[in-house]
Amino acid sequence: MPRAEIRLLKNLEEYRQCEPIQRRVWGTLGVGSEVMAVTQKYGGAVVGTIVEGRVAGFIYAFLAHFHGRLVHWSHMMAVEARFRDRGFGFRMKLFHRKLALERGLKSICWTYDPLQSRNARLNISRLGAVVDQYVPDCYGHFPSLLEKGLPSDRLVVNWRIATARVRARLQGESPPVDASLPRVNETRLTARGFPENRVIRLDLTHPGLLVEIPAHTGDMRSRALPLARRWRLETRRIFERYLSAGFRVEDFLPPQPASEDRCFYLLRRSPRG
Ligand SMILES: CC(C)(COP(=O)(O)OP(=O)(O)OC[C@H]1O[C@@H](n2cnc3c(N)ncnc32)[C@H](O)[C@@H]1OP(=O)(O)O)[C@@H](O)C(=O)NCCC(=O)NCCS
Repeated sequence: MPRAEIRLLKNLEEYRQCEPIQRRVWGTLGVGSEVMAVTQKYGGAVVGTIVEGRVAGFIYAFLAHFHGRLVHWSHMMAVEARFRDRGFGFRMKLFHRKLALERGLKSICWTYDPLQSRNARLNISRLGAVVDQYVPDCYGHFPSLLEKGLPSDRLVVNWRIATARVRARLQGESPPVDASLPRVNETRLTARGFPENRVIRLDLTHPGLLVEIPAHTGDMRSRALPLARRWRLETRRIFERYLSAGFRVEDFLPPQPASEDRCFYLLRRSPRG
């Protein structure tokens, strides 16, 4: 694998290279090169991963207000499919954090699909972000290759980049998650090998709870779309119920081959809850 450089993108040619990446990843163009150029110039950030002189991934973030604070709102992050799972997403987030801290910012925020377990692994367990907000159908119906026609529900990530919690996570310190905590949903495998919910409990009061999600949502959306739609609506009920009751998403247990690739969010009742 050739060496990769992580840095701010510099010119229109590099911003233009982000356009076909967006089309390949989402099937549509979200942010064009001109807007990227002005965002970079006037307080936002466009971070790139460069492999052999070409952009292989990027983050696009603009200045925004969130909970009364000036933050970077990271509207897009993408890594070309063939370059995934090599740590580029993580390294771009680290680069972005350093830059934002140097500019006096305390948070970087973004949204992500709670059913994308790769994003959950990166955002929650590796970066140490926490989530207390769920937005159903956040962007309305849009022609995304990832969404495949499902409502675009999102968790809102607040990555509080100056906290001890985040520093500890970035140094690889993560307290073990108690896998015996009560489970909000119990699943079983369908004949085609996809998990489906068998039981959903919306009345649990224990301060720590586990919520299972499928480990391979993209595959399920391609091969079992009605089941994927059910997962969307069922996890919407779960997150809306528990986040409104004072829980927040605090950790994520990535897929374990020993447990049929099952993976779980850890929800904890926050101190004010
Ligand atoms: C999200 C994205 C940018 C991550 O980029 P990346 O370079 O692959 O990220 P990293 O390699 O740093 O981290 C991925 C992690 O997920 C893990 N992972 C891979 N497949 C997984 C799965 N099915 N479930 C859970 N975790 C998984 C990887 O092992 C890695 O964790 P590790 O570092 O502990 O091994 C990339 O997947 C992408 O472009 N996705 C499509 C667009 C998108 O969803 N953008 C974000 C929302 S705007």
